[in-house]
Amino acid sequence: MKKGKQIYEGKAKILYETDAPDLLIQYFKDDATAFNAQKKGTIQEKGIFNNSISSRIFEYLESQGIRTHYEKKLNDREMLVKRVEIVPIEVIIRNVAAGSLCKLLALAEGLKLKTPILDFCYKKDELGDPLVSEYHVLALGWATAQEIATIKDYTFKVNDLMKKFFLAINLDLIDFKLEFGRYKGQIILADEISPDTCRLWEVGTGKKLDKDRFRKDLGDVEEAYKEVFSRVTK
Ligand code: TMP
Ligand code: ASP
Repeated sequence: MKKGKQIYEGKAKILYETDAPDLLIQYFKDDATAFNAQKKGTIQEKGIFNNSISSRIFEYLESQGIRTHYEKKLNDREMLVKRVEIVPIEVIIRNVAAGSLCKLLALAEGLKLKTPILDFCYKKDELGDPLVSEYHVLALGWATAQEIATIKDYTFKVNDLMKKFFLAINLDLIDFKLEFGRYKGQIILADEISPDTCRLWEVGTGKKLDKDRFRKDLGDVEEAYKEVFSRVTK
């Protein structure tokens, strides 16, 4: 697969065209940002770990009937993906209270939620990706009612599958963020699934093995990504 011109650079990834019009190369960087890029840093080899972790999880989800943009892992830092039109929404699922939910409602971190919470955030860096409701998504034309229904259905299915997947390697899935895209008229799962986009706590110890180590300066940041990588790819 020939690498063509760069078409997009985000905070953690770069997208390149290929010689196939429907396929892109997704390159994973070591750059890390938090709090809407107010905090910036580098996590050594994060790109390598996240490419492998995401690849493995997309393969698992595909095997369970979830359609994703993933085609194959190309090398250490690159995967081949379908070219989608990204729906400008970040879909967050929470099983346990952490992060912005604790801040919003003054909840204790670790509070187990009776049912999962699904949040929509509008993908707009200038606005800090604000929390919105399904009505905003529909009213502003970011997705149709049918697309929203598909996205919600996929997200709850992915939550059930990923909870099981991580529990099998002794990790509790606290929350995570998904992005979806349109491909040939269908909604499919896109972006990445990694310790950048999930909160993962070790069963028993509660040790945080995700980007919160970077966000909160908890130390052992690289080690946390490496630990998740070795458990996921074992
Ligand atoms: P939050 O508690 O900060 O809203 O984050 C919820 C989940 O979403 C957490 O697992 C981290 C992930 N996330 C992203 O992947 N990208 C983002 O820009 C933010 C704010 C959160
Ligand atoms: N990736 C987001 C940013 O830089 C936030 C986060 O993951 O905490 O802004």
